[in-house]
Amino acid sequence: MTGAPGTGTPVVIAVGRETAAGEQRVATVPDVVQKLVKAGFEVRVEHDAGARAFYPDDSFVAAGAKIAASRSDLLKGARVMLCVQPPTVADAGMFSEGTIVVGFMNPANNLDGIRALRDRKVTAFALELVPRISRAQSMDALSSQATAGGYVAAVMGAAHCPKFLPMLTTAAGTIRPATVLILGAGVAGLMAIATAKRLGALVEAYDVRRAAGEQVRSLGAKFLELEINAEGSGGYARELTPEEKVKEQQMVSAAVARADIVITTAAIPGRKAPVLITRETVAAMRPGAVIIDMAAESGGNCELTVAGTTVHDHGVTIIGPRNLPAQIPFHASQMYARNLQSFLALLVDKSGALTRDFSDEILAASLLVHAGEVRHKPTQDLLTGGRA
Ligand SMILES: NC(=O)c1ccc[n+]([C@@H]2O[C@H](COP(=O)([O-])OP(=O)(O)OC[C@H]3O[C@@H](n4cnc5c(N)ncnc54)[C@H](O)[C@@H]3O)[C@@H](O)[C@H]2O)c1
Repeated sequence: MTGAPGTGTPVVIAVGRETAAGEQRVATVPDVVQKLVKAGFEVRVEHDAGARAFYPDDSFVAAGAKIAASRSDLLKGARVMLCVQPPTVADAGMFSEGTIVVGFMNPANNLDGIRALRDRKVTAFALELVPRISRAQSMDALSSQATAGGYVAAVMGAAHCPKFLPMLTTAAGTIRPATVLILGAGVAGLMAIATAKRLGALVEAYDVRRAAGEQVRSLGAKFLELEINAEGSGGYARELTPEEKVKEQQMVSAAVARADIVITTAAIPGRKAPVLITRETVAAMRPGAVIIDMAAESGGNCELTVAGTTVHDHGVTIIGPRNLPAQIPFHASQMYARNLQSFLALLVDKSGALTRDFSDEILAASLLVHAGEVRHKPTQDLLTGGRA
């Protein structure tokens, strides 16, 4: 891979140390570095970028990367920057014009950052905008990270539950299995179901998309049926009507009341998370029950959830975690790094040079900022709404 054909200068890919609070992941791992170096890239990793995910600098060096002592050394001459969290305004100021940045960009909640990238004439691809088509599965970072988050949520629920999850027959008596309820059976929910099943719990799950029923049952869990099918466009859920919401609340309340652990993942893209568990429902739960609200950052599926903290109410522990995938940083980083490796393959043309043709369906959909313009219409609208 050469940046300037004939000169033999390799394209430099930079991987920074994540600076957001609580972020432990890193955008590449040694196995992926090895492949990128073999493909002709130079990979530069900022000092200690992988330390919190347990990939020390030495492991990157052994894979063929160079270690940069500082952020400015990292970015000197870099054509591509890989990140997990969106670059900060300060980072954007350090990029050269035309740098390609790939990572989560959280556009709706990061308008200052997007403005800075636009004004710096950076090319930014947002992984959350990668279309969920079969060809893009290997670069679907939303799914890989939701898988990591779903696993952590189930393990966290088990760790806070005062009961065993499996049934036990012991000399000290028989222990009945705990009941785990999963609300929202998308990618994260299905992983939470599989994990709770492996821990031996009785697992029930509910989703407004009837199609989720088959997947839930195939994992050995019970699917709670409601006479509603709220499958919206693109396989996502639509918002329920007020009458449907009442029916849902009744059924969900009964299931929540018999659960020892409830893991909620219900989300509607671009909207506040639906409230599925009211404060009255919490009051009717078993003492010692635990709620892990994976939708905490988008408003919460439980009325009492506070994002980033734990609330105790009527003997129920309600946890509103932020950034669950960062709690399993070794494997979440590995999966994310492979997603980025697949995405990078789209950015290389037949001659091995970086492409400037972004007409490919996946590139076009995920291109957020390019050549001084915001290319993603909803983000553009948010910016012009704020007259920026
Ligand atoms: N490459 C692909 O084809 C691909 C990849 C990943 C996901 N998908 C599909 O995308 C869809 C959404 O996946 P996701 O995990 O990103 O979803 P998501 O994070 O947007 O939502 C999580 C789940 O919450 C459910 N939900 C929303 N409102 C609810 C309510 N009121 N009550 C109960 N549940 C509610 C949704 O139906 C969804 O299953 C699924 O159909 C999934 O199979 C496809």
